Amino acid sequence: MFAAARQTSSLAKRAFSTSSVNNTRVAVLGAAGGIGQPLSLLLKLNPLVSHLSLYDIRLAAGVAADVDHCNTPSKCVGYGPEDGGLEKSLENAEIILIPAGMPRKPGMTRDDLFNANASIVRDLAKAAAKVAPKARIGVIANPVNSTVPIVAEVFKAAGVYDPKRLFGVTTLDIVRASAFLSGIAGTKPAETNVPVVGGHSGPTIVPLLSQLPEGKKVVEQGGEQLAALVKRIQFGGDEVVKAKDGAGSATLSMAYAGADWADSLLRAMNGEQVEICTYVESPLYADKGVSFFSSPVQISSEGTVGEIKPVGQLHPSEQKLLDACLPDLKKNIEAGVNFMKQ
Ligand code: NAI
Repeated sequence: MFAAARQTSSLAKRAFSTSSVNNTRVAVLGAAGGIGQPLSLLLKLNPLVSHLSLYDIRLAAGVAADVDHCNTPSKCVGYGPEDGGLEKSLENAEIILIPAGMPRKPGMTRDDLFNANASIVRDLAKAAAKVAPKARIGVIANPVNSTVPIVAEVFKAAGVYDPKRLFGVTTLDIVRASAFLSGIAGTKPAETNVPVVGGHSGPTIVPLLSQLPEGKKVVEQGGEQLAALVKRIQFGGDEVVKAKDGAGSATLSMAYAGADWADSLLRAMNGEQVEICTYVESPLYADKGVSFFSSPVQISSEGTVGEIKPVGQLHPSEQKLLDACLPDLKKNIEAGVNFMKQ
């Protein structure tokens, strides 16, 4: 069943369940932001989390004090930048989520965030490489296509890079594809699992609608409905940016998606078979200079990257989308790598 929808339907029940082992320490960097706060709350409700460390340059102590009062088994502690708070927040972290950074305003693309966010992610990654080099890292801060390679370069420079522990969180694209297609097809969102491959910005987002029966119908009919659906999945974030009118981008749906991504790792570490689309160092299109790519990935029992699966059969219209994605993605990855060479 689709992990995102399965989680919400059972979230409250599972928060108090005694059958799963809650023994994983999770850190959220940028925890007081629009995404960070609801993400921290959802993680506090996850029965597989034993300890939650919240770090931010502002307000983290308050957010942690608030979240910690939820009567679920995990403990939640907040840290600010004073007194080595960043390093303290990372001690013994097993999963680190990074939503720290500026969100978009109307008219901005995710790439426009590069200048602001590249150095934020770099500095947080440096601390992670020093204090928690074995943690699994999920990068949410945009532009994900570039910030993930930045983390890889930081870890390489520190001599601790393990590509199996680094992920870009592209789950929101999958959540949106599921919501939008099920809205058209009249299917249950929880059972409408659209693989979304490529990267996480506009044309690099490639939904593979033809791989499920209700999507195949829409793809084969083609025309305006298909074009509008694909555009909505690729640019759904713009709808939110526009509706928030300068107050930021997707936060609540992103927190839901980020919590779901973390839950996928936690469940795999707890013995479940889990496969998700996520952005990782990948051999699939490395010959085209695209060294990071999102495709279905089996999560190992260690919560790390297991088998990286190919994209599977594509309709010619999807092949076109993939062909358009690769050069853009290559440029985004190069931008991240070059930033670290400066
Ligand atoms: P926000 O501005 O509400 O929150 C960002 C938080 O990061 C703030 O609390 C800020 O104090 C904190 N921060 C800034 N510099 C920091 C540092 N050096 N160390 C620790 N914390 C720091 O922004 P929002 O809406 O939460 O978005 C965060 C990021 O997530 C943005 O880059 C946004 O583009 C991205 N995003 C990613 C999505 C995805 O699908 N991967 C979807 C939506 C947003």
